[in-house]
Amino acid sequence: MPDYSSLGLPTERDGLEQFDHLQAYRRLGPIYQLSFRGERHVVIAGMEANEAAWRNPDQWSYHEALVPFREMMGPTHVTQLDGDPHRRKRRNLRNGFAMSAVVRHLPMIDTVLREEFARAGARPVRLHDFFMTALTRANSKTVLHCDLDAEALTHFIVFEEEFISGTILGEARHAHYARPDFVAHREFVFGFLREVVSRRLAGETRPDSFQDMITDRRERGEPLDLEELIPEAYLLLMAGTGNTAKMLNCGLQHLLANPEWLRLLEEELSGYRVDQFMAGMGAFPRLKATLMEMERMFPAAPVLSRVVEETFSFSGFELPRGTRVLHLQTLPHFLEEVYTAPYRFDPSRWIDREYPKKAHGTYGGSTHICLGMNLVRIHAPVAIANLLRDYRVRLGGEPEISVNLNYGVPQAAHLTAEWTSRILTNPLVAPAPVAQS
Ligand code: HEM
Repeated sequence: MPDYSSLGLPTERDGLEQFDHLQAYRRLGPIYQLSFRGERHVVIAGMEANEAAWRNPDQWSYHEALVPFREMMGPTHVTQLDGDPHRRKRRNLRNGFAMSAVVRHLPMIDTVLREEFARAGARPVRLHDFFMTALTRANSKTVLHCDLDAEALTHFIVFEEEFISGTILGEARHAHYARPDFVAHREFVFGFLREVVSRRLAGETRPDSFQDMITDRRERGEPLDLEELIPEAYLLLMAGTGNTAKMLNCGLQHLLANPEWLRLLEEELSGYRVDQFMAGMGAFPRLKATLMEMERMFPAAPVLSRVVEETFSFSGFELPRGTRVLHLQTLPHFLEEVYTAPYRFDPSRWIDREYPKKAHGTYGGSTHICLGMNLVRIHAPVAIANLLRDYRVRLGGEPEISVNLNYGVPQAAHLTAEWTSRILTNPLVAPAPVAQS
């Protein structure tokens, strides 16, 4: 077990699950150490940590830090690559995830989400499951065309949720992943994608982002390997949907608890049409502010696990190769000196106001910045715009989801909700047409 006591770092006691990092940061400064799941970790936090951690991505070994992703997704999976192989991979994935690639799918994303809200009807739904289903259906008609029936959807969603929750279990992940039900989901998911990718390699073409990636690679003479393309297809169809769903859940709960802002937002969205989004969010400043506030208060991955590759100097300490680090990249979201009253959900703070880029850690930073960020920033506004334009929403009364900065402790997100059409209560609001699926 690595021992950092020789570094002379300030120390905090064990028990990270209940740990108050803000207090530790105030008391100990931007670097301290603690024990987490039986191993010593050095914690770095604050704007200065973001600056230092993102300055030189080659100082980290993603290979060492993200082993569970390699075990599940294979040795070419993007998250756990370093240096040139990582840069090559991001180049290869660009055509699937660039904003221009996602924006062209806006009309279909809008249609699918509108259908999904209508399909749910006026009965209580589990919000997290709803968003994961709706977003995956949207992905299956945009970024990776494929036919997902209800059974396939369940396999994909349960696999994603269980896979991600297992990545933070340390050694206990092996037992988690060996459970027969998980193995069955995994086999289904990879078998399904193997068929999809094999058909493409055999010449099938579909008007989706996956095709754009394949075409681009062919043009550049990059090899097309079945085993490498399968986890890439997974990225397009499924990755990160749980994170987006979680952010929307937490955010909606706080938004609905703010009637004054909600009214202003509904007013802005009453005339929403998807084509207005084609040129960005300029026509929807309140929606943009609402989403920024959701990202700030409910970052789905609030802490990043890192392992030092090249000696890392920070705040007067030198961390040698192999040091395990927890980078609290979202801690600045809760610093009074950056955001006034940081625990208050207050979208208006974003109106006509910008905050330092390094203060926003929701999607990480530098070369490994979240690959799906553009997708989230299309999915989330389209979802909220459709929901609030067409429906009145009521949550099921579950306790308030509180902000949580701790590594390995996902924010609770099991809310129920129901929505009723505004047309029933306001005959002046014309219904948006629902396309046939
Ligand atoms: C609200 C939703 C999401 C949040 C908060 C989120 C957050 C993050 C964070 C914090 C990282 C780590 C960045 C780093 O290491 O510096 C990351 C990486 C990543 N995210 Fe997301 N994510 C979200 C949605 C998505 C979606 C929808 C996808 C779909 C493809 C996705 C795919 C990825 C991938 C592939 C990486 C690894 C990138 C790399 O290592 O090069 N994420 N995300």
